[in-house]
Amino acid sequence: MSIAKWMNPDVAAIRPYEPGRPIEDVAREHGLAPAEICKLASNENPLGVSRLALRAMKRALPEMYLYPDGYGFELRQKLAARTGFAPGQFIFGSGSNEILEFIGHCYMGRDRSIVCSQYAFVVYKLVAQMFGSRILEVSAPTLGHDLPAMAKAIRPDTSIIFICNPNNPTGTLVTDAQVAKFMARVPEDVLVVFDEAYAEICLGKMPDTSRYLREGRNVLILRTFSKAYGMAGMRVGYAMGPAEIISALERARQPFNVNRLAQTGAVAALDDAGFLRRTRTLFRQGREMIEAACDEAGLEYQHSAANFMLIKVGDGTRVTAGLTKRGVIVRPMGGYGLPSYIRVSYGTLAENEKFISALRAETGK
Ligand SMILES: Cc1ncc(COP(=O)(O)O)c(C=O)c1O
Repeated sequence: MSIAKWMNPDVAAIRPYEPGRPIEDVAREHGLAPAEICKLASNENPLGVSRLALRAMKRALPEMYLYPDGYGFELRQKLAARTGFAPGQFIFGSGSNEILEFIGHCYMGRDRSIVCSQYAFVVYKLVAQMFGSRILEVSAPTLGHDLPAMAKAIRPDTSIIFICNPNNPTGTLVTDAQVAKFMARVPEDVLVVFDEAYAEICLGKMPDTSRYLREGRNVLILRTFSKAYGMAGMRVGYAMGPAEIISALERARQPFNVNRLAQTGAVAALDDAGFLRRTRTLFRQGREMIEAACDEAGLEYQHSAANFMLIKVGDGTRVTAGLTKRGVIVRPMGGYGLPSYIRVSYGTLAENEKFISALRAETGK
């Protein structure tokens, strides 16, 4: 007997998230050696793990028989000291994705709506679907967030607005002045979530969203160790917000959600200013290289503030498949409603070269 009748219809309707394909998977399918393949599909850090984090995690391995500190004391104290916010204004997640789910548990539901931008990070919509919130998607003719239109889209049942800045997958950035005008229009009782997964490596000027937190507004600022610090595999991210919202989110958190190794690594990574600097330099070089190659080949692209960019290639699915066979994994953008684009993450200089020559071969440009 099928148990489908018990399946939650909201969850059943979800089209699962499609991550970048793992290297091992592509190696098996195309008979390639894993070392020949470059994965430029998940906006990871091509320099690897922060060296300070790696050293600290190696040293901490023998302690792994112990549960982690569910409260994340050390990481909390360090972030509090750095940001000037109180220790009670932080919550940690197994990646910032998990925090999006806490937000869903606390502030979404069938009688509510969320506002997000067309082409914004898809997980907001997946979580809203899971919790039954209506999704008010605001069109983005220039690919970036149209903040005045988003403010206008708010309805009396809107509980949350998501601003992804820089936005994945478009790489677009909203400015300080745009955010200020927007915040002046957002009602006090709407939660504004600024997803700043790429803040530390942003190649443009990030707006200062912490100011709204200091002003006592209902905002959450999401950050992650996955990108700038090269710790995507460890799964650790955090949110800063008003103590009231943080303590609500804490109720939805499982006791040991962020593992001990990840916490150790994150604490150490925060001191690795050199790694951050090298990462930013590499991403800037990556952007220059790939933009120059696109200009030369006559391929349209979206100038990006983050470590990836959209390139218009015609048939994104076909080009992605062709690049994969050549050992370069990128992301097709059909799932985002941008079927003529691929998204490429910047790699090492050698990986970027390999991508550029494979792209030229695939597109014939
Ligand atoms: C905009 C944005 N938010 C959140 C995440 C999730 O990051 P993590 O769960 O690894 O912290 C990503 C990952 O790609 C992202 O691009």
